[in-house]
Amino acid sequence: MDTRLRNKRLDENEFLKMRGPVLALWPTGREVNLDEAVEYQKKLPDSKNWHKVARKLHDEGKTAIFPRAGTGLIEDEISLSKKLVESGVPFIPVTSDSYTRQLDFEKVESLLAEMRRTGKNLLNGYPIINYGVKQTRRIIESVDRGAFNPRLSLKSYPLATEIAFAAGMTAIAASSFISWAAYEKYATLEQSMAASQYVQRLIGYYADRGAIISTDNHGWILTGMQPMTVNLATTIVDALMVAEQGGKSITSVVHLMGNLAQDLAWIRVTPRLMREYLDRFGYKDVEIAGVFAQHTPLFPMPQGVGAAFAFPNYTAMVAALGNVEAVSIRTIDEALGIPTEESHAQSYESTNWLLNVIRGQKIDLKMKEIDEEAAMTELEIRALMNKILEVGDGDVVPGCLISVEEGFLDSSFSPNRQVKDLVQGIKDVHGAIRWKEFGNLPFPEEVKKFHRAKVAEREKAEGRKMDYEALVQDFWAFSKGQLTGKP
Ligand code: 5AD
Repeated sequence: MDTRLRNKRLDENEFLKMRGPVLALWPTGREVNLDEAVEYQKKLPDSKNWHKVARKLHDEGKTAIFPRAGTGLIEDEISLSKKLVESGVPFIPVTSDSYTRQLDFEKVESLLAEMRRTGKNLLNGYPIINYGVKQTRRIIESVDRGAFNPRLSLKSYPLATEIAFAAGMTAIAASSFISWAAYEKYATLEQSMAASQYVQRLIGYYADRGAIISTDNHGWILTGMQPMTVNLATTIVDALMVAEQGGKSITSVVHLMGNLAQDLAWIRVTPRLMREYLDRFGYKDVEIAGVFAQHTPLFPMPQGVGAAFAFPNYTAMVAALGNVEAVSIRTIDEALGIPTEESHAQSYESTNWLLNVIRGQKIDLKMKEIDEEAAMTELEIRALMNKILEVGDGDVVPGCLISVEEGFLDSSFSPNRQVKDLVQGIKDVHGAIRWKEFGNLPFPEEVKKFHRAKVAEREKAEGRKMDYEALVQDFWAFSKGQLTGKP
């Protein structure tokens, strides 16, 4: 019998049984009362519901910011959240600390005690599980608006989302790929998919009772430069998994790599194909809340003040030209460590300036390069989806498991041992990312020819091979304010 995981809705009784051991991991698990939590969620104002906030931005034609932020002590977390709301941020992240991510709750306890004793900051995020439901509600209730979203890890997902949703958070990166390929060395995709099904089924439980929790679908986060199409195809897989477990709202995340035409093409093509696949599989009532752009977290950040402002402002500009609902902006001190409240405020003051001014002009940018990139993007995503569905016999879950084994889905420099790592990317003369090595990606010849020609063009222009050195230079280029890497 084939015992592989499938994209099939978990039976409610089975799911309720699965919750027992999850909630028993730490005493705060006992604070979760699902029925009371559903009522709490339903009483939240629209301005605290992620899906409604995103739809409103869509209707008003505005682009807002979804940052990353989190700090150890609850008073500081409250102060930070207030600062973000005051800075005009409607999507409030609650980034968890590294010990929570590893389920090391004893360590968190002792560090919290030490922090109170010494005044030192010893946690790099908010330990949501140690604080639990009642305490975490204090954060959500401390502001009059703001839709909250916890940032977690593969191991912490099940218990932390139980607590987060019960506390009134209304979105989560319910993705099987976000942690697995970029943050995990040993976890298998199957383990990751099982964990995300739990979270997605929990969202489905809320949805069945009228509380809508959205999912920012990140797909396969890349740890090396390559065109985003493997990532984008897997955001569609994430969407199909959320929908199957009963989720009704999906936030389509598109990562940017720094070439305007290519980035805008990815922004335009992805939600359209996501909608198409959702409809094709019968999930017609599942809504796409909006499109969220962000520069891929891959590149080094600039360390000088001027360039530190330029990078996030550039990201904001692309997002505004992409007419997306939100953009994830890194702070100006991202290169140094955990941002201060002041740097959060300054970063968003600057980027909101651009978002308001550029998005306000309602620009519908027409460039033949965007159309060309869009055509390639669509060919690549469709080829990947076709392969996934072919080898999975129509089911994306076994389809992805097999595709990873075969390298039909692949990425470069992944820390995860399961990933084949046979592909490689490089920038072309315009800074667009091209496939240099295709590995086993199931792309048609037309696609391969296109990329090969672009790589050859740069080799000719620079009179050198696009080798490993060139790749490393490309990786650093953006933080130095260069479009392509220089020897
Ligand atoms: N505050 C702000 N940003 C954070 N990140 C991780 N922890 C925090 C925090 N406590 C950022 C990383 C990276 C992204 C994945 O999240 O710097 O940009």
